[in-house]
Amino acid sequence: MKTSTFAVSALIVLGLAQSCCAQPFMFEAGRFEAGITEPAARRMDNFTGFVFDFNNATAQDRTPNGMLQQNQVAQNPFLSTLPGDGNGQTIVTMGPCAGNTPHTHPRGSEISFMLYGSIEFGMVEENAGMNRLIFENITQNSTIHVPQGVLHFSHNPNCEPAAFLASFAHKDPGTQTMWGSMMRVPTHILHSATGLPERLISGLKQFPLVTAPGTGGEACLRRCGLSFQTANHLTPLNATDLVP
Ligand SMILES: *[C@@H]1O[C@H](CO)[C@@H](O)[C@H](O)[C@H]1NC(C)=O
Ligand SMILES: *[C@@H]1O[C@H](CO)[C@@H](O)[C@H](O)[C@H]1NC(C)=O
Ligand SMILES: *[C@@H]1O[C@H](CO)[C@@H](O)[C@H](O)[C@H]1NC(C)=O
Ligand SMILES: *[C@@H]1O[C@H](CO)[C@@H](O)[C@H](O)[C@H]1NC(C)=O
Ligand SMILES: *[C@@H]1O[C@H](CO)[C@@H](O)[C@H](O)[C@H]1NC(C)=O
Repeated sequence: MKTSTFAVSALIVLGLAQSCCAQPFMFEAGRFEAGITEPAARRMDNFTGFVFDFNNATAQDRTPNGMLQQNQVAQNPFLSTLPGDGNGQTIVTMGPCAGNTPHTHPRGSEISFMLYGSIEFGMVEENAGMNRLIFENITQNSTIHVPQGVLHFSHNPNCEPAAFLASFAHKDPGTQTMWGSMMRVPTHILHSATGLPERLISGLKQFPLVTAPGTGGEACLRRCGLSFQTANHLTPLNATDLVP
C-alpha cells in the first residue's frame, strides 16, 4: 500500500472509530450534554463540584508540619465527568523546614504553581535520563513540571510557611511514596540491589514511614529553632512483615 493511500485509510478508520464509539462529554451552557459515559455524570449532581472551594476542603493529610488538601475524584466526583483522564489538584502547605517526601504519581503529570514562600524542589530523571538530579529553589509565581511517574520531592528551607498548588492531568493521579515502597522490598533483594549488609537494611526498615509533610534538614531546624517533629500521621511499618 502506498503511504498516501495508507494515510487516507488510516484517517477514515480513525474517523469511523470516533463517530462510532467515542462519547465525548461536553459542558455547555450549564448543562450536561448527551453521550456521558461516566456514572458520576449520570447522577446529574448539579455541578456541585464545578467550583471547588479549598477553604471548605478538609485536609487529607495534616501534621504539625503542613498539610495536603485534595480536589481529586475521591473528594469531588464531578471530576469524573471531565473528558479523558480528567484533572485534579492538591494544595500542599509546608511549615518551616517541612518536607514533602520523595514520591511519584503513577497516573498523572503534575504542574505545580508556587503560591507563596519558596521551596527547594528536586526531581530524579528516569534511567534513560541518567538518573540526573534536578534540584532548584522555586519561588513565588514559578511553575514546576513533573512528568508522570517521575520521582520528586520538596523541602521548605525557610522559617516561614510556603505553599504550592499541584494540578494533575488526571482525576486520580495517585501517589507512591518511595521510602515506604522500597522498605517493602525483601531485605535480600535490597542487598542484591545495594550491597549493603542485610543487618543494616533490616535496621533501616525499623524507621517509620512518613506519609504526610515531615520536618527535617538539620541546618534548617537549627536556624529556625525547631526540633525534629514526629508528626501525627506516621504509619509505622510492620516490622514482622519486613524482616525476612
Ligand atoms: C438538582 O437540581 C434539581 C432541580 O433543582 C433537583 O430536582 C435535584 O434534586 C438536584 N439534584 C441534586 C443531586 O441535588
Ligand atoms: C463552604 O462552607 C460554607 C459554610 O459551611 C457554606 O456556606 C458554603 O456554601 C460552602 N461553599 C462551597 C462552595 O461549598
Ligand atoms: C536555595 O537558596 C539558598 C539560599 O540562597 C541556597 O543556600 C541553597 O543552596 C539553594 N538550594 C538549591 C537547591 O539551589
Ligand atoms: C507574584 O505575582 C503577584 C501578582 O502579579 C505579585 O503581586 C507578586 O509580587 C509576585 N511575587 C513575586 C515574588 O514576584
Ligand atoms: C504484622 O504482621 C504480622 C504477620 O503478618 C501479623 O500477624 C500482625 O497482625 C501484623 N501487625 C499489624 C499491627 O498489622
